[in-house]
Amino acid sequence: EWTSAAFVETIIADLKETIGDDKVVLGLSGGVDSSVAAVLLHKAIGTNLHCIFVDNGLLRKDEYESVLEQYKHLGLNIKGVDAKDRFLSQLAGVTDPELKRKAIGRVFIEVFDTEAHLVEDVKWLAQGTIYPDVIESISVNGGPSATIKSHHNVGGLPDFMKLKVVEPLKTLFKDEVRRVGTSLGLEHFIIGRHPFPGPGLAIRILGEVTPEKVAILQEADAIYINNLKEAGLYDKVWQAGAIFLPVQSVGVMGDERTYENAICLRAVESVDGMTADWCHLPYNVLAKISNEIINKVKGINRVVYDISSKPPATIEWE
Ligand code: XMP
Repeated sequence: EWTSAAFVETIIADLKETIGDDKVVLGLSGGVDSSVAAVLLHKAIGTNLHCIFVDNGLLRKDEYESVLEQYKHLGLNIKGVDAKDRFLSQLAGVTDPELKRKAIGRVFIEVFDTEAHLVEDVKWLAQGTIYPDVIESISVNGGPSATIKSHHNVGGLPDFMKLKVVEPLKTLFKDEVRRVGTSLGLEHFIIGRHPFPGPGLAIRILGEVTPEKVAILQEADAIYINNLKEAGLYDKVWQAGAIFLPVQSVGVMGDERTYENAICLRAVESVDGMTADWCHLPYNVLAKISNEIINKVKGINRVVYDISSKPPATIEWE
């Protein structure tokens, strides 16, 4: 029978033996997989593990600061890189979802490569690849997430980075990764996080991404997620997020007629993201979220709820 304790013991011994005194770089995303991979490697090789956390400007409100803080608490040797402007400038004028993903993947590789080379004499690239990623990257029908994963999750080394790859989680399923993380003492803040796509809020802003739209979506999303947490629903939902709709509709505020954008709320139940059902969130919770977003987020005068399941709809809108 598989136990996380036995896995941890074996993999740490393996990592020590394979890596020895070499230096390793790892890109942290704030997600469960890269975090668990980092903590395992840190236990095995200590400060020879150099973690890099890139702020692509497409993270959730305050996410960069709070996640960086958590990682520092864990004792990880971590460098935060503010690349917001680089990502956002490369997204200017881009409306096609796949071109957005490509632009983000390209800038990520450039930024990461520069940072990795600053680690003197680095020999290894560690990745938080898990078993389903391995399967997905070899299936022809990998879906939109395979595109970015081919960039930086699975064996996606640019030619110019001659690093050996180490993937300590590649035999594990998600629930096993969570169990390993818990047994390593990772907090619920990291372990219990909803999945979040690599391209971040860029694929939750339909059409062109601008800094103004990112700021609006971050505010709306934070209100949504905080309300789910307050209502005790966050842990029951598999994934939730707000989406910025570039349509304008008429509203009324005081004596004024408004003509502003809409926010869509998405929440799904799922096991692996391959299929998903929309969550039947309580009306009173939806009502509170809607009021709060419309009253507090300038530029939004309408909130809608997505009642589509996957298939045929996807979880993300792009
Ligand atoms: P869809 O929208 O395809 O999403 O139903 C399924 C799961 O994959 C995530 N997703 C992505 N993750 N890069 C990622 O790392 C991407 O380009 C990407 N697109 C979708 C999505 O958030 C959901 O969990």
